[in-house]
Amino acid sequence: MKMRPRIELALEKALESLDNGDCPPRLREAIRYAVFPGGARVRPELTLAIAAACGEPSGELADRAAAAIELLHCASLVHDDLPCFDDAAVRRGRPSVHARFGEPLAVLAGDALIVHALDAVCELVPAYPRRGPIVMRVVAAGVGAAGGIIAGQAWESEPSVDLRRYQRAKTGALFEAAILAGAASAGAPLDRWRNMGRLLGEAYQIADDIADVFASGAALGKPVGQDRAHQRPSAVRELDIETATRRLNDVLEAARDAVPRCAGREALRQRFAAITKAHLSRIAPPRATSAARPPVKRLS
Ligand code: IPE
Ligand code: IPE
Ligand code: MG
Ligand code: MG
Repeated sequence: MKMRPRIELALEKALESLDNGDCPPRLREAIRYAVFPGGARVRPELTLAIAAACGEPSGELADRAAAAIELLHCASLVHDDLPCFDDAAVRRGRPSVHARFGEPLAVLAGDALIVHALDAVCELVPAYPRRGPIVMRVVAAGVGAAGGIIAGQAWESEPSVDLRRYQRAKTGALFEAAILAGAASAGAPLDRWRNMGRLLGEAYQIADDIADVFASGAALGKPVGQDRAHQRPSAVRELDIETATRRLNDVLEAARDAVPRCAGREALRQRFAAITKAHLSRIAPPRATSAARPPVKRLS
């Protein structure tokens, strides 16, 4: 099966308990609205690609791991858009969850997505008593308060933060978890994949920081100029655009070099550039003329 339909099916399966009649209808609608039709689905794609590279091209545990990672990502976006965080009214080109359903349901939808994500993996633990718990742990680590997404969001409430540490927690950790979950679901050793995940996530966030300044809201499907408006640490705010672009290229290069020997190594290396380039390709001329346009050519 092709990657995208496989991911959508895995997400439907992970959320099927919402159909048993016990979930309040508006909450069910808000949860599904947060997940479908979705965005780029980059993280679950990585999970499945790494599982395949580790010799498990069609495993059900990999599907669950991929779904869990994407549900957690969707939860992070719902919460990130809330007025108490980035106060963003638009996400994926339409009203954000709280803008459409109100804050109480948005908080609960995000909470529910976290629970369903972990439960989706838990359900397969009896069938995979060795691999299942390892998948659970790497997925949970990606969102936790010790270096995961929660830490990343919490750094915004500290008086000062190191940019790299912030980006690695708020974005890198879930990329790392996506990649480790792919390896774990194939029963492969994890350590050789760890660094690559962290680096790729860091590159993705630098690309997002550049897009926040140089892309249009219409192209990204979310508000731009957020990092400046909320005084967030960002690669563009902290470095100049040339240095930020150089760092993006350097981190991407390091991520590519960190891909361990495996089946499909070259394809994985090429995919990395494409993943971050998707952000940068949306940089539109109208806003880019008001500031220096970043040199994105080297990324191809
Ligand atoms: C948005 O992630 C949040 C960041 C970490 C930059 P994506 O750009 O992957 O969002 P979707 O899933 O495609 O909407
Ligand atoms: C990205 O944070 C990581 C999350 C935890 C959502 P941002 O605030 O930079 O992401 P966008 O720009 O809203 O997608
Ligand atoms: Mg944010
Ligand atoms: Mg945000």
